[in-house]
Amino acid sequence: MTTRRSFIRGTGAYLPSRILTNEDLAKMVDTSDEWIRERTGIHARHIAAEGEMTSDLAVEASKEALRNAGLGPEDVDLIVLATTTPDQTFPATATAVQAKLGVKGGAAFDIQAVCSGFLFALATADSMLKQGLFNTALVIGAETFTRILDWSDRSTCVLFGDGSGAAVLQAGEGGADEGLIAHHIRTDGTKSDLLYVDGGVSSTGTIGHVRMQGNQVFRHAVTNISSAIQHVLAETGYSIDDIDWFVPHQANQRILNGVAKKLGLEEGKVVSTVAEHGNTSAASIPLALHTAISDDRIKPGDLVLSEAMGGGFSWGASLFRL
Ligand code: UT7
Repeated sequence: MTTRRSFIRGTGAYLPSRILTNEDLAKMVDTSDEWIRERTGIHARHIAAEGEMTSDLAVEASKEALRNAGLGPEDVDLIVLATTTPDQTFPATATAVQAKLGVKGGAAFDIQAVCSGFLFALATADSMLKQGLFNTALVIGAETFTRILDWSDRSTCVLFGDGSGAAVLQAGEGGADEGLIAHHIRTDGTKSDLLYVDGGVSSTGTIGHVRMQGNQVFRHAVTNISSAIQHVLAETGYSIDDIDWFVPHQANQRILNGVAKKLGLEEGKVVSTVAEHGNTSAASIPLALHTAISDDRIKPGDLVLSEAMGGGFSWGASLFRL
């Protein structure tokens, strides 16, 4: 039996040209290339240029995703953009993307679930397409995350970078094991003090900076991510051996390894791009997905499992077939 479902038709990604290496950071704070590589797997991160905004990054990734899908702005009727670092408090950065891409009509809005944002956006767009509210969606993760970093705090400033990734989702008819298959998204507001920004519109009237109890977040990340994955597998009847590719949120190579080990996932199936761009928050999953599709690792028909964990806490997992 076939039903109305969502399919990923194309992906794109964009990284700003300026690269900040671990050696560069070692000149700014008391850290070293060795510490950063050993504890995180990160070698470098990209930094948006002055005047380059989250919407600019998002537009570049979206253009590539549309090209790869063989579609144009005239085909898009929904834009869901996950970001923690919007251009302005309002309007939504997604509407800036809508205007810059020349998308006429439809709807565009932002989603805020920090590092899990792309999965929350994917689940939202998928539901709306399945319901028949829209037909073709741009689902984007884009961040100028380095703008909320405290560059004197070595425990956070070495971890994050800027970037964007996008996927074009289109509604069509298909079987239960085609296209986007299942999502599991969750939050726990009682853990917000472990990872947050110490400012905001209605609290301090300032932008604020990222604060994190890294080792505590690490512990919860492995547990929550594993539980989300097990939930998605149990719901769909797939086993971990059925997964062709694992595309995790790129926060820390040790978290990727920890989750893979806990679930019995072969390391060769794990897509890792964290070394090149660090933690780009909502952008990291589509960046990694696009990388592995572009270099022909992920092929049409492959079963892909994705996961994320971030501030909130927020976390989730998505299962889809390319
Ligand atoms: O994407 C959103 C979710 N976020 C995450 O998933 C991040 C999760 N957490 C992590 O990735 C890791 O906890 C970190 C990479 C942030 C830290 O690694 P860790 O192994 O948990 O280290 P730690 O926080 O326990 O700190 C160990 C030591 C401390 O020194 P003492 O107290 O042992 O003397 C820190 O002060 O490492 C020190 N340290 C550093 N040293 C050199 C912390 N940051 C640095 C640094 N360079 N950049």
